[in-house]
Amino acid sequence: MRIGIIGAGRIGGNAARLLANAGHQVRLSFSRDPANLQQLAREIGANATTGTAADAVAFAEVVVFSVPWGVIPDALEEAGSLQGKIVIDTTNQFSGGPVSLDGRTAAQFNTLTAAFQAEAAGRTGPQRVVQWICGDDEEAKQVVARLVDDAGFQPVDLGGTAECEVMEAPRRAGAVYGEEYRLADAVAVVEAVRAGRPIPPTPGYGN
Ligand SMILES: NC(=O)c1ccc[n+]([C@@H]2O[C@H](COP(=O)([O-])OP(=O)(O)OC[C@H]3O[C@@H](n4cnc5c(N)ncnc54)[C@H](OP(=O)(O)O)[C@@H]3O)[C@@H](O)[C@H]2O)c1
Repeated sequence: MRIGIIGAGRIGGNAARLLANAGHQVRLSFSRDPANLQQLAREIGANATTGTAADAVAFAEVVVFSVPWGVIPDALEEAGSLQGKIVIDTTNQFSGGPVSLDGRTAAQFNTLTAAFQAEAAGRTGPQRVVQWICGDDEEAKQVVARLVDDAGFQPVDLGGTAECEVMEAPRRAGAVYGEEYRLADAVAVVEAVRAGRPIPPTPGYGN
């Protein structure tokens, strides 16, 4: 697929590398110094190009939106309309800034640190690490789930953006944010969330 990356830092850069390695085309965008994007594109190789955020959106079937919370408005302005695009939003509500949640969830895609993702991608069998997703468009989630699999993780769908609070920062008891999960334990979490029950205790895998 053609994937536009808005914010190619630790998380967006990881996604770009993993997806390009899986054969997807990535376009990197939104940096304070375009040389950073060009350097990353060179490292990734033939499947990576660079451009403005608007270029990345125009190019893409799927957009990975991965900028610090405080610069979301700037990135959205540079990106322009996202109408008709599948957007994978990795942002967390860290460090404050101009975007207020106002009682809503941040509907984030990703609950694992960039370093852990880079190390844990590509595990197989029961050791494969879960990447939680949530969203309100079933077809879009199926596409994202395939990309998560291509990137080397086990996708698990927690539901819609209104009920994904257990994915949200901060790391805390009763939430999956920041924790490694594998499929069997993740299925039990989904069942609990769907039933409106507290999730089971966080699993440990002896890492
Ligand atoms: N790191 C994690 O472990 C982790 C885990 C889960 C979710 N997240 C969330 O994912 C999002 C991205 O996190 P990240 O760790 O990948 O961030 P990051 O490494 O700081 O990357 C942010 C990217 O945005 C670009 N950018 C453009 N304008 C910027 C500006 N004015 N200020 C700062 N950066 C600017 C930066 O490019 P230049 O530096 O080239 O300008 C950089 O490539 C955040 O919302 C974060 O909360 C992070």
